[in-house]
Amino acid sequence: MKKTILCIGAGYVGGPTMAVMADNCPDYKVIVVDMNEERINAWNSDELPIYEPGLDEVVKRARNRNLFFSTDIIAGIKEASIIFVSVNTPTKTFGAGAGKAADLQFWEKTARDIIEHSKHDKIVVEKSTLPVRTAEAMRRILQSNTKNLNFDIISNPEFMAEGTAVTDLQTPDRVLIGALETVSGQKAMQRIKDIYLHWVPEEKIKTTNLWSSELSKLVSNAMLAQRISSVNSISALCEKTDANILEVSAAMGMDSRIGAKFLRAGIGFGGSCFKKDILNLVYLCEFYGLPEVAAYWEQVVKINEYQATRFVSKILNNMFNSVASKKIAIFGFAFKADTGDTRESPAITVSKMLLEERATLAIHDPEALKNAKLDLADETGDISYHCDPYKAAKGAHAIVVLTDWKQFQGYDYERIFKSMEKPAFIFDGRNILDHKKLFKLGFNVFPLGQREYSHLTEIEK
Ligand code: NAD
Ligand code: UDX
Repeated sequence: MKKTILCIGAGYVGGPTMAVMADNCPDYKVIVVDMNEERINAWNSDELPIYEPGLDEVVKRARNRNLFFSTDIIAGIKEASIIFVSVNTPTKTFGAGAGKAADLQFWEKTARDIIEHSKHDKIVVEKSTLPVRTAEAMRRILQSNTKNLNFDIISNPEFMAEGTAVTDLQTPDRVLIGALETVSGQKAMQRIKDIYLHWVPEEKIKTTNLWSSELSKLVSNAMLAQRISSVNSISALCEKTDANILEVSAAMGMDSRIGAKFLRAGIGFGGSCFKKDILNLVYLCEFYGLPEVAAYWEQVVKINEYQATRFVSKILNNMFNSVASKKIAIFGFAFKADTGDTRESPAITVSKMLLEERATLAIHDPEALKNAKLDLADETGDISYHCDPYKAAKGAHAIVVLTDWKQFQGYDYERIFKSMEKPAFIFDGRNILDHKKLFKLGFNVFPLGQREYSHLTEIEK
């Protein structure tokens, strides 16, 4: 094999990214390491640590051929000449910048491991999402080595989304590679480009300076999230004016300058990236003395919180201002469809608020029940978890849809309605069900930003 690539961090990004890379680059040996032994064991087993459509096949094709998962970080560092770092960069929870700035302790630990165990020059690639100018700090740490080794830092942020990771990685909109404008930096950039050229057309590979690359990643996420908050804010106005958010989104999206994607109104965005990356952007703007810019972006997060709270108020208002001791079936706990990931899922916020109101929760999700149990482990209250939607809904007063799983549309709602307490409610927080049909079955249906269908009289409401 021509070269060995190491990836430190075998999470939602490191695992799929390297699996697709190994699959497309049989002339490279790709080693993925993590300090989490359980995770590595799972990557080496038939039950991968994450659910991602199409990933099993890719991993099976490449694993133990030119793709290896290991906990031996030191051996990996010694062997590889290119090191991708894909460790987590969560929001800082302590000290200066707590609640906004990125916590770079995992990144820094990796840099120190690299210095300690390197015996020859290396290219270190930032795959994690990092604040702009992180590479400067990393370069200083790495160049502080006393072994006279050269480390080139490349920024190569990842744009895949969960649930579509494999197709996003196989056919990306773009691959972004940022490097210093030095001879050594440009050479290192070409070596990373050569890897991607195995399967990505050259015109989709965008090269920039290091800082543009770091900042582009944060801003891409902020722009996507901003679209969702914009459309969610308008969903509230639709409810006041009898406009329909689906029609408004479709009409807006037909303008080719706006585009149709990321205009789905719902209970708000979740996932490990959007909130953390916007808060990071806000922190950076404050740090660089730009309070107006910081306030502008912070509003995207505020609207997201408002939307979840607004949805819970809608549930309470329509269920006679009380859900205490009422069974509520939660359909969907993952932060989006086709993933088992629940990080920052709006389902966590909504469930906690309903538990505070003393509701009994029956949670159903096709892939995320294990994570849901962990997320709600500290909550007091009556919570049950169900693979079977019919068991979750049996005897419930309401169904609350919190994830856009496609299979929710195919359930037998006639059977579900018959098994529920009456009046039976559906609150469709993702606008994915056929509301008219449900109404005809007897449900009182409350979507977001669209007309509600209720059998209750004004007095009953
Ligand atoms: P993750 O938490 O799933 O995985 C990170 C892994 O790194 C963990 O398994 C952890 O054990 C390991 N790790 C941490 N420190 C380590 C160390 N010093 N040595 C060895 N292993 C170490 O995180 P993720 O979702 O894969 O995200 C990783 C980065 O990619 C973040 O910066 C994130 O913002 C970015 N990103 C995430 C997504 C996404 O959809 N999840 C998409 C694009 C970019
Ligand atoms: C996001 C970015 O899309 C991806 O490019 C980046 O690399 C990582 O962060 P991810 O968080 O995995 O990906 O999923 P995404 O599809 O962006 O969805 C994020 C959240 O927004 C989900 O909760 C989803 O349900 C919500 N969403 C998305 C909406 O509410 N409406 C939409 O129109 C689109």
